[in-house]
Amino acid sequence: MTVNLTIDNQPVTVPKGTTILNAARSIGIKIPTLCHMEGVVSPGSCRVCLVEVEGARTLLPSCIAQVGEGMIVHVNSKTARTARRTSVELILANHPLDCNNCSRNNNCELQTIASDMGITASRFPRLVQEHPLDLSTSGLTRDMSKCILCRRCVTACQNIQQVGVLAAQKRGFATIIGGGAKANLAETTCVQCGQCAAVCPVGAITEKDAIADVWAALDDPKKHVVVHTAPAIRAALGECFGMPAGSRVTGKMVTALRRLGFDKVFDTNFAADLTIMEEGFELIKRLTDAVRDKKAVALPQFTSCCPGWINFAETFYPKSLPYLSSCKSPMQMEGPLIKTWYAQKAGIDPKDIVVVSVMPCTAKKHEANRPEMVDSGFKDTDYVLTTRELGKMVTAAGIDFVNLPDGRADELAGESTGAADIFANSGGVMEAALRTAYEVITGRELPFPSLHVASIQGLDGIKEAAFKLDGCKPEFSFLEGVTVKVLVAHGLGNAHKVCKKLEAGDLAEYQFVEIMTCPGGCIGGGGQPRMTDDNVRRARIAAIYSEDESRTLRKSHENPEIKRIYAEFLGEPLGHKSHHLLHTTYTPRQ
Ligand code: FES
Repeated sequence: MTVNLTIDNQPVTVPKGTTILNAARSIGIKIPTLCHMEGVVSPGSCRVCLVEVEGARTLLPSCIAQVGEGMIVHVNSKTARTARRTSVELILANHPLDCNNCSRNNNCELQTIASDMGITASRFPRLVQEHPLDLSTSGLTRDMSKCILCRRCVTACQNIQQVGVLAAQKRGFATIIGGGAKANLAETTCVQCGQCAAVCPVGAITEKDAIADVWAALDDPKKHVVVHTAPAIRAALGECFGMPAGSRVTGKMVTALRRLGFDKVFDTNFAADLTIMEEGFELIKRLTDAVRDKKAVALPQFTSCCPGWINFAETFYPKSLPYLSSCKSPMQMEGPLIKTWYAQKAGIDPKDIVVVSVMPCTAKKHEANRPEMVDSGFKDTDYVLTTRELGKMVTAAGIDFVNLPDGRADELAGESTGAADIFANSGGVMEAALRTAYEVITGRELPFPSLHVASIQGLDGIKEAAFKLDGCKPEFSFLEGVTVKVLVAHGLGNAHKVCKKLEAGDLAEYQFVEIMTCPGGCIGGGGQPRMTDDNVRRARIAAIYSEDESRTLRKSHENPEIKRIYAEFLGEPLGHKSHHLLHTTYTPRQ
């Protein structure tokens, strides 16, 4: 059913239930918003989107108010413009206005809206609330002095991730967003996923900035600074420079990193391929123990490459920990290998090597600082930059990113396959693992068109696939006829559902489960360019699969550098050296 109305004298017909905001957008009229987020019900708290509706007794927030038949809406009337301007001026009266010292300078929605409205000063007396900076976690910085109480972070934390940390505390002018009686995030059950930072319109919650540390390392002639970039960066970094979502910028990214001065540019994708080898063989071992040797084994095996998920499992579902693969994440595999294998090959003292990773994620900053992540004898990863931070460094260096020529990652820990690319997407780790595990067990390629397990791709919250093993190699004859069932979930709200099923014993028929903290997987990570909505996620996902399909090698076990590292250094998957450098343990945090 459709509704007819006019907005600024333009007729428009939209489906019943459409908000005035979206009706206006459908005919090219842009109404400013601050608290509104696509895909969720607006809290209607900021009043920046007010419009005048003839016959209505008050101005209406267009992000909430729905269209009505015959409605006459004015966006550009003096009354509506003045009301919106007043809303912004009132917000500015409570804001520090310290833009030059804010990490969101030139990338702040409040600053942009005020500028678009031509506001240079607020008419209202300034009443700024001072709050101490919360620097208690490794991943996030909270500055509640800058908070505009839009509650987007509350929606991300409560409704989407269902972690339940951030909420409005106190009332009226004293209202503050926080973790209840716990003053600092580190005292709460925050998993540092950064989805709050990804949606904050201002500089109230951001990643903990590592840019100064990385510049200091690059400027130190005694340091050999090595960088590696996560699979999801190459499908999003271009957005920092105005390129459309889903632009594939792998080659430009490598060139930019060299121009920034990194001594070696490796690729986390190399370690993603290594993760598949270790995690795939771990799964085969668990299946062998369970099916052939009738041992009591924790199955299904859960993936472990997402640090927000690890924090979540340790905090909320400690009974799930035996089910988690003992594999470290690709980032934490790449780091110790750079400080051991690469250091030996290059003849460099590992104490002089600085490992910088570029990640789509704020929880990675926490992961790098976990006390056990020192298996190389040094801190395995020294600094983690988000995609946004790398974008800022490239801009600061005056590099014309869009027009850069393509470069190639350095040899040794820079070669990768399409299986590693798809780690960036929900369902990708699972598909990559199946590409290798199926071939190891049967000697044949995974029997799906273009190697894709279509039912576990895309943005559905919980997805699954099932297929029968047949024609197994003689050494795996005990798996002949076994139906493999796999489950994939993304977003911690969905992880809750899967973990509750595990606790209830309802996952017994599954062998492997993939969990990613962020909606869409790493392509939607808390450190990616803002704002990430489902259209942006789909564009980045399409870019990642097209990167995969453009490759000659698309299975991790075919990566020549992976073959080389096992032959020269690690020995075999799950071997002694692998266990020391590439595997870890988890700690209940309740
Ligand atoms: Fe509509 Fe905030 S965007 S009330």
